[in-house]
Amino acid sequence: MRKLNLLATTVCFCLLSLPAFTQIDKTGQKSASKPASASEFTEKSAEESELSDFEAFKPKAIDTTVAPTVIAFGSCNKMDKPQTMWQVVAANNPGLWIWLGDIIYADTTDMRALAAHYRLLKTQPEYKKLRNKTQVVGVYDDHDYGKNDACKYYPMKRGSKKCLMDFLDVPLNSPIRKRDGAYQSYTFGKANQKIKVIILDLRYFRDSLVPDETKKKRYIPNQVGSMMGETQWAWLEKELRNSQANLNILCSSVQVIADDHGYEKWGNFPNERKRLLKLITAVQPKNLLILSGDRHMAEISKMQIEGLPYPLYDFTSSGMTHIRSGTSETNRYRVGEMIVQKNFGVLKIRWEGERPTVTMEARGHGNELFLSETVRY
Ligand SMILES: [Fe+2]
Repeated sequence: MRKLNLLATTVCFCLLSLPAFTQIDKTGQKSASKPASASEFTEKSAEESELSDFEAFKPKAIDTTVAPTVIAFGSCNKMDKPQTMWQVVAANNPGLWIWLGDIIYADTTDMRALAAHYRLLKTQPEYKKLRNKTQVVGVYDDHDYGKNDACKYYPMKRGSKKCLMDFLDVPLNSPIRKRDGAYQSYTFGKANQKIKVIILDLRYFRDSLVPDETKKKRYIPNQVGSMMGETQWAWLEKELRNSQANLNILCSSVQVIADDHGYEKWGNFPNERKRLLKLITAVQPKNLLILSGDRHMAEISKMQIEGLPYPLYDFTSSGMTHIRSGTSETNRYRVGEMIVQKNFGVLKIRWEGERPTVTMEARGHGNELFLSETVRY
C-alpha cells in the first residue's frame, strides 16, 4: 500500500509538472473547460495512478523472428491535438510501427514533465490498442528530445534518452540503454527475406546549426560539423557492412535527400550528407530505402547515384496531428506530389525469392491514399 501511495504521489507530481499542456485530457484532446485545480488533479491522478504506472513501462525485447509485410511509420504528433490517426494506422495491420521523431512536443528540460507527456500518449486508448498488437521502435527528433532544433549541447540529453527508452519499453539490460545515444538496429525474418531496420540518432551527437544572418533561410551550411558523431558513424558502417538483409531500411528523423529547403536536413551539414551517400554507395547494402519525418508534409525523393545498383529513395511522412502552411516547396528529387495533409507512411513488402518489392504509401484519415510509389528491387 505504501508503495502504491508512493507511485500515486510520483504520478501526481509528474502530471502537475506538465508545462503549458496541462489542459489536455487523456485522449489528447484540448480541454474546453478551465484548467483543473491542483486538488482536482490530485484526486483524478491518484485514481488513475495505478493504471498509468502499470502502462508506463513494460519492458519487452523486440521479436525479430518474423519479417513484417507491412511496416507503418510516422512523426510529429502533438498531444494537445486530437489523436485521430491511430485507428487508421491499426487498420493497415502493420507488423511494425516506427517512430521517426517528434513523438510528442514536450519542449522541456524537466524530465518528469517529459516522462509524463510520453505517458499521456502511451495511455491514449487508440494508441494503446495499436501498441498491444504491433511492435514499436523509433527515435526522438527535436521536440521530444527536449527543444526545437536541439543538438548535442541540449543539457538533459541523457535523461531524454532514458525517457524515450522507457516509452519504447526497451529492456533494462538492452545494449541500446548502455551506450550514449538512442541509435539501434533490428534484423527481422529469416533466410533470404530478412529486413534490417537501422535507426539513427541525429540529436545526441549533432553539432550546432548555423543560423542564416540574411534570414533568407533558417540555416546555412555547417561545413565542418557532425550529424552523428564518430562512434555512431563507425556503428552505422558496421551495421551496413554486416547486414544480412535483402531489404535495409535506414530511419533518419530529418530528410536525407531533399536539399532545396532551408529547414532541418542532412544538407545543413553538406559534407556529412555526402559522407552518408558515399558510404551507402561504397558498402552497397542490398536494397536500402530511407525513411524520414519532421517536415509536416509527405513526399518521396529519389536519387540515382552512380555506382549504386538501385535508386535511392527517401520517403518522408509527417505530421500525424498537424501540417505546415504553404503547399509548395522546391525539391529537385521529388517524385509525385508534395502532400500537405495529416498523414502516416506505410511500406508494403512483397517477396519474389530474395527480391523485395516495396510499395510506399502516404495515407491519412479514412485511410485515404495520398501518395504511392512502388519499387521492385
Ligand atoms: Fe523535428
